[in-house]
Order: sequence, then structure tokens, then C-alpha cells
Amino acid sequence: MALHSMHTHSCGELRAENIGQTVTLTGWVRARRDFGGLIFIDLRDREGLTQIFFDPDLCAPEVFAAAETVRPEWPILVEGEVRHRIEGQTNPNLATGEVEVLCTRVEVLNTSKTPPFQIEDHIETSEDLRLRYRYLDIRRPKMMANLKLRSDFTFAIRQALHDRGFMEVETPSLFKSTPEGARDFIVPSRLQPGNFYALPQSPQLLKQLLMVGGVERYYQVAKCFRDEDLRADRQPEFTQVDIEMSFVKQDDVMGALEEVFADAFAKMGVKMELPLRRIQYWDAMDTYGIDKPDTRIGMELHDVTGIFASSGFKLFASAANTEGQHIKAICCPGAGVWGRSKIDKLSEVAAAFGAKGLAWVAFKEDGSVQSPIAKFLSSEELDALKAEMGAQPGSLVLFAVGGRLETDEILGGMRNHMANVLEIPREGHDFLWVVGFPLVHWDEERGAYAAEHQPFTQPVEADIDRLESDPLSVGSWTYDFVMDGYEAGGGGMRIHNAELQMRILKLLGFTEERARAQFGFLMDALEYGAPPMGGFALGLDRVCMLLTGSDSIRDVMAFPKTTSGSDLMSDAPSAVSDDQLAEVALKVVR
Ligand code: AMO
Repeated sequence: MALHSMHTHSCGELRAENIGQTVTLTGWVRARRDFGGLIFIDLRDREGLTQIFFDPDLCAPEVFAAAETVRPEWPILVEGEVRHRIEGQTNPNLATGEVEVLCTRVEVLNTSKTPPFQIEDHIETSEDLRLRYRYLDIRRPKMMANLKLRSDFTFAIRQALHDRGFMEVETPSLFKSTPEGARDFIVPSRLQPGNFYALPQSPQLLKQLLMVGGVERYYQVAKCFRDEDLRADRQPEFTQVDIEMSFVKQDDVMGALEEVFADAFAKMGVKMELPLRRIQYWDAMDTYGIDKPDTRIGMELHDVTGIFASSGFKLFASAANTEGQHIKAICCPGAGVWGRSKIDKLSEVAAAFGAKGLAWVAFKEDGSVQSPIAKFLSSEELDALKAEMGAQPGSLVLFAVGGRLETDEILGGMRNHMANVLEIPREGHDFLWVVGFPLVHWDEERGAYAAEHQPFTQPVEADIDRLESDPLSVGSWTYDFVMDGYEAGGGGMRIHNAELQMRILKLLGFTEERARAQFGFLMDALEYGAPPMGGFALGLDRVCMLLTGSDSIRDVMAFPKTTSGSDLMSDAPSAVSDDQLAEVALKVVR
């Protein structure tokens, strides 16, 4: 398919059936090879590569002379006849590998400096250099394929939503704080010195207002901004497919979302079996130790408290006899053969997940048991443990001791760590819902209750009586979409009653005045016939990362930032002039 007027075909298009045709191609010189008076050029554009052949006996001298001058990454135009490659020269690994273009005309469209890294898929160069010259990095086929997949998936999901009556509505980027648990990026106002906009952490409040406005089915491919610590799956600016529906119950929303996902993923060649599995939050925590489990990797958590009620190992015995304390374990196949010092090192990993130590038992391949605590354990305890954990020769059992959430989180972290270290194969994609998160948790740092999802989430009606007396026991109408062990999206039903909304904000530590100052417009709107509503937001970057098998969302973003929040190409963020600061009534204090 010709993409523009200067060429007749793309560089990925020519096949045996084009032999004999005169074609014009444009692209970048990937490589030039000179062979005793013959020149071959690999010409690359976003669709692929085509071999161009220059024979001094078959083209004008100036064409051959031009071919001799071109260097990698020069953009050129070539015209010539498609012919079969000579015997032994065909390349079955290349879509255009059967043919080449015998060049009769060449036009050098520009020159290029030698690029700082090769424009190839398998290169060893720092990511920083790739980001500094991102436009060259994007020329690499893998990056181009990632961007293409992202475009295709975004189009597919838009189509799936449009087909079901969802309306795309754009919401502003200059707005007021929309809390999603991160810090805001703030933008000073010139027209109102001393006042600030906040960039939206998500369109949450605005989409609720669209429901009050009667939009009924909304979506938006929306940029969101969050000032938080960055990681492989987090950027300060990222994209959500944001969705909201009104006059619905949770099952209606989840059902509609499943259809949309299945439709869009099918277009990417990924089959999704519906309905998706639903796992209750506490079941996910107790079984996998995490609220975004990858269920492909096995190694589920077992509560083994009962086995150690009269154990000779004091730590276990005392936990087993204390209310609220648990002994939990995971069984890691293959790690039991590790040497003692390698196993001992795991306690450093466990410490990062909150463990004070890491007890372990290795079931050796010769049938023996190795463990620093083995001497305190009876053979009955070891037999019961082996049976409960399904331990085989070569298995390593790791323990966590403490409260329910504490033990879950330690082993959840260790389970993921061990799956990576043991390179446990993960085939296909793992899709599921985690539902029924608690409404709030206790935030140690702030010394206050914090919303588990966000402050506008509808509590389970039967629990509302306990909002003030026992908030941690209050459930919520919430659901996270989990893909391959990542939180790929999240949503919930919303509060559509102003009084209840105020009660929740107070529970979260707002005074009535502050709640009014920050969310008065929402509370006002809720008083004008707000309908029951619920919605969801899909993390587009994360889904594309998983679909492309990338290690980081940076690989599916054209111009991402580094983990320190910089754009290495433009050098943002950077200082602005004193005049610019004065215009918005600001002074930098260092
Ligand atoms: P939530 O905060 O869970 O929900 O965000 C939805 C999804 O967005 C993705 N995500 C991110 N991706 C990249 N970088 C980040 N910094 C980042 N933060 C979040 C995740 C996440 O699941 N308004 C609610 C949605 C709703 O209730 O409708 C919201 O924003 O994949």
C-alpha cells in the first residue's frame, strides 16, 4: 500500500507477484554492501525492508555514482524493476526476501550524520541514549511495531466502545485536584496570580459529572498526570481508556467491560474466555499474597498454622497459639537443591516485603531435609508440612509469620520473586477480576484512613452502618482488571448521594469546609438528580506493554520520561526565565 505520493509501494510490500513491475520506493538506507562493482542497499521504512540492487552495466553512471555515496540512514528514493533475487540470495526470514529492485533511478532526499547507535532490533546501547535520540530509536523495527500495536489496540477498543453506544467526551487538562492517591502536578494561572490548576490524575470527577449530565455511556482515551515515584510500569503522564456508565449495577458494568475487552483483544489475536474469573480481594490476598495475582505461576500460599500448635520451634508455637497470628508458606519447586547460602540470601529479599526473617525448609533430592529450624521440628510436623504443601524432592518451602495481611504480603512478594528467579514459564495471558476491595485502609504515615480505590467509591450498603464504628470492615463495590500479574485497570460503583459522599470524606479526614472547598462542585451536582453510576479505567500503557512482551511501559510510549522524570531529548523539566515566572507571580526559592 502506497502511503504517500512519492512512492508506489512500501518497503515491506513487494512479493514474487510484483516481479516485472516498475516501482518507486522511499525509505532510509539501513546498510550498503559493495561487492566487486555491484552495490546492494537495504532500504527500510516503517513497513519493512527491501533489497535494492545497482549494476553499473544496467543503470546510468550517475545512478551508480549516487549509490556509491549513500550512507546509513540517508533517506532516498529509488525507482526500478522488481526481479527475482538470484539463486542462493533469497531470504526466507524477510517478507520481501524473494525479490529485489534493480535500480534505474535514485534520488538522495537528505544526508544523515552517523547515528549514535545502530538502527537494529538487537542492539546493546543504554536506554538513556535511545531516549536522547528517540526519533532514531523509533526507526528500529521493534519500536515501530510497538507503536503500531498500540495504535491498533487503541483503535480496536475505541471501535468496541463506539459499537456499544459509548460516547467519547473530552475533559479538560487544566482542572482542579482529582485525587487518585498521588501528588498533583500544578500549573500556575497568569490571569489569576497565586492560583493554580491541577493536571488531572484521572478524569474521575468529570466523568461522574457527565453522568449527572445524562451522557449515560462515556469513554475517553485520556491523558492522566500523577506526580509519584516512577517504576517500569509507572510514568508521570500515562493514558487511560476511561469509561463510565449510569443507571447500572456492578454486574452491568463488568459485563459490558468484558465484552469490550474480548472484542478488542480478539482484534490483537488474543482470545479471552468469558466470563472472566472473579476473585474476592481477601481470597486473592490469602491465596496469592497480592491483589493482582499472576495465577499461571502456581506456588500458592497455604496457612500452615495448625501444623505447628505444639511445635518445638518457639516462634511457630507462639504464633500458632496467638489470636490473629498466622504461619503461612509457599512451596518453590526446584529451589530446594540450592546451596544453603543462596537460600539464606532470600531473607534480604523477604525483608523488602516486610519480613523480619525468613524460615525455610528444603526437601533435598536424596529424601533428606535441610533447614536451620529442622532440629526443632518433629518428623510429624515435617510430614504434615510436606503433605500440605505438596512438596517434592527439590522443593523449598518458605515461611512467613505474623498478622494476616503481613504474612500475605511477604509471601506474595516472595512468590513473584521466586517465579522470576526460577523462570517459571508463563504461557498465554492471564486475565481475571479482583473484586470487593475494602473501602478504606489505615494509612500509617498519615495516621488516617485512606480510600483503598478512591474517595468516590460506593460502600456496600449493608456495611454503611459501620462506617464510623468499624470502617476497616466496610466493603466496597470495586473491581480491578488483572492481566499477567499487573493491575491493568480498576473501577467501581460511585456514591451518588451528597450526604453519603460527605460522610466518606469526613471518614478520610476532611473537615466539612475543606471537603466543600475541594469537592463542592461534585457535592452540588450530586444534589441535582445524580443517577446510580459506575465505571472503570484501563491502563493503556500497561496493556500494550504486556501485549508486546515489553519489560517497561516506556517501550510502548513514543516519548517517555526516565525514572527521574526527565525527558532526555528536550531536557525537560528545565528552568524558565524570571520574566515567565514573574508573569505567573512566582519566585523560585532554592
Ligand atoms: P486507577 O488509579 O486504578 O483508577 O488507574 C487506572 C489504571 O491506570 C493505570 N495507571 C498507570 N499507568 C501508568 N503509569 C501510572 N502512573 C499509572 N497509574 C495508574 C493502571 C491502573 O489500573 N479513576 C479511576 C478509575 C475508575 O474508578 O473508573 C482510576 O484512575 O493500569
